[in-house]
Amino acid sequence: MRYRTFGNTDLRVSEICFGTMRYASKSGDRGDQNKAAARALEEAVDKGINFIHSSYEYGTRWLTGEVLSRHPKRHELHHIIKVNVPEWGEKGFDRSAFRKQIEDALRDLHTDRIAVVQHLQRGTLPRELGYCAEGEPIRLSEFDAVTEPLVEEFTKLKKEGKVGFLASFPYTVGFARRVVDSGLFSGLVAYYNVLETEMLDLFPEMQKRGMGFIGIRPFAAGLLTNKRVRRESLSAGDRLRDPAFDRLYDQLGEFRKAIKEEPVDWTRFAIHFALSHPVIASTVVGINTPEQLDSVIRAIEDSPIDDKGNTAPLDPAIVTTAHSLTMKFREKFGVKAPGSGIPSY
Ligand SMILES: NC(=O)c1ccc[n+]([C@@H]2O[C@H](COP(=O)([O-])OP(=O)(O)OC[C@H]3O[C@@H](n4cnc5c(N)ncnc54)[C@H](OP(=O)(O)O)[C@@H]3O)[C@@H](O)[C@H]2O)c1
Repeated sequence: MRYRTFGNTDLRVSEICFGTMRYASKSGDRGDQNKAAARALEEAVDKGINFIHSSYEYGTRWLTGEVLSRHPKRHELHHIIKVNVPEWGEKGFDRSAFRKQIEDALRDLHTDRIAVVQHLQRGTLPRELGYCAEGEPIRLSEFDAVTEPLVEEFTKLKKEGKVGFLASFPYTVGFARRVVDSGLFSGLVAYYNVLETEMLDLFPEMQKRGMGFIGIRPFAAGLLTNKRVRRESLSAGDRLRDPAFDRLYDQLGEFRKAIKEEPVDWTRFAIHFALSHPVIASTVVGINTPEQLDSVIRAIEDSPIDDKGNTAPLDPAIVTTAHSLTMKFREKFGVKAPGSGIPSY
């Protein structure tokens, strides 16, 4: 495994962060899915992944806690957790709800510290506008009222040794810009893959300010892998048959036509792309089985390295092509479209 530093902090994390949103069932039963998921997490930690992403919302922490409670390396791990305060329909910032989400995670994950708190500001805007440019003015108008108590409560928790660094999950580029300009956060956590490059324009400014970036879903929820990159080969019940993915396949089709050479191994290409900027510390990958883990680790091992020993940047022309197609498709679907429209389930 390769490791990078998160912005100008002292946090060293593996280039792959283990994402737990979909890896286990939401209940404590012992199906085959959960057995494979448990083995994937155990082996990920054995193989050097030291960064784990979770949220109480996913309903899978029961398994993460169970695996980590008996893993000898659990005290060497760094956790990143998504914390949503205020929630939908709430006004202002509830300090005790924030503290509770962190203290619950410390207990459930059998750890003493949450390395990165990924703060998500929901609030009073209607849920359907929550994650798109049209809802941005309301979220921005609530930003100051939320960030002041957020930073105060975070600082108290930091003094208690319970948290490390505060990052924001901005969703929209305008909100992300406000976060960067505020100087209050150590970094951003946001979607970043071949089909979702919106945050790219902020990378130079973030680097200048010593901020770090943690990317989410390098495979665009599984699409950018050898298994699913061709829509016509999806199996009958595949979750990516959901029409929400149609426009992503259209965007990918244009990308494939625009690049000179089709990647031989899409899984490797997607991981390489997701790590292809020095501001990026890690990419959060949904890994559900030991086989998926092995292929993700192979993707890292097979990618070239730079002079710092990190996965090297890609050809900038490829990144520019991906970015112009991301922006073209966002424009085409209008500001009401919440990001790329990839469902989170
Ligand atoms: N709202 C949020 O906070 C939010 C939203 C999205 C993601 N996240 C975080 O980011 C993580 C990753 O997101 P994600 O799972 O949506 O996206 P992703 O990492 O882009 O895709 C992961 C999916 O790709 C498939 N896959 C994984 N490794 C593979 C391999 N080697 N070969 C072929 N297919 C492979 C798996 O699906 P199958 O098993 O079905 O094939 C897996 O569920 C989540 O677990 C979560 O921690 C957070």
